[in-house]
Amino acid sequence: MSEFYKCAICGKIVKVIAEGEGQLVCSGQPMTQLSNFKSVSEILDFAIEKEEESRLFYLEWSDKLESRALREQFVLFAGEENKHKEKLQRVKSGSTFKPAAKQVTDLKIVDYLVDIVPTPEMDFQEALIVAMRREKASFKFYSDLAAMAQEEGLRETFLALAQEEAKHKLRLETEYEKEIYSEN
Ligand SMILES: [Fe+2]
Ligand SMILES: [Fe+2]
Repeated sequence: MSEFYKCAICGKIVKVIAEGEGQLVCSGQPMTQLSNFKSVSEILDFAIEKEEESRLFYLEWSDKLESRALREQFVLFAGEENKHKEKLQRVKSGSTFKPAAKQVTDLKIVDYLVDIVPTPEMDFQEALIVAMRREKASFKFYSDLAAMAQEEGLRETFLALAQEEAKHKLRLETEYEKEIYSEN
């Protein structure tokens, strides 16, 4: 498994693809290796951050797309990701999510990260791939959180989130296939 490092200042995450000597530095500070989540609030912050990233991604692409139906779909997705974010913020402030401490530290951050990021130069097909992989990671993340939730209501919340991300992924896969076939 490759190692990931995060900059505490700018938030950049880098993946090590070949080992070597020396320390990774970003924003004038050594980067910290991403390992396991340390607390529930760290888990929820991560989830909130990912939802915001997805929201911005769909909004940005909704502007660039030619198909009107797809533009509307992406705006809808952005709205759903925003609702997910709000839901997680409520979970965080209600602090009803209390898994056993051991379970928390069992979760590896890198399992829920996608190792490619969208860039402004990406074409629609590449952007779809990033989005699909992100939706898949979100699905796994919420499924794992659901398994950890001791309270029934909260488990249902996480399961519902997992289902919605699965739907997003499916919808993107359908679009991706259309793109591929329309080119040949
Ligand atoms: Fe989401
Ligand atoms: Fe999603």
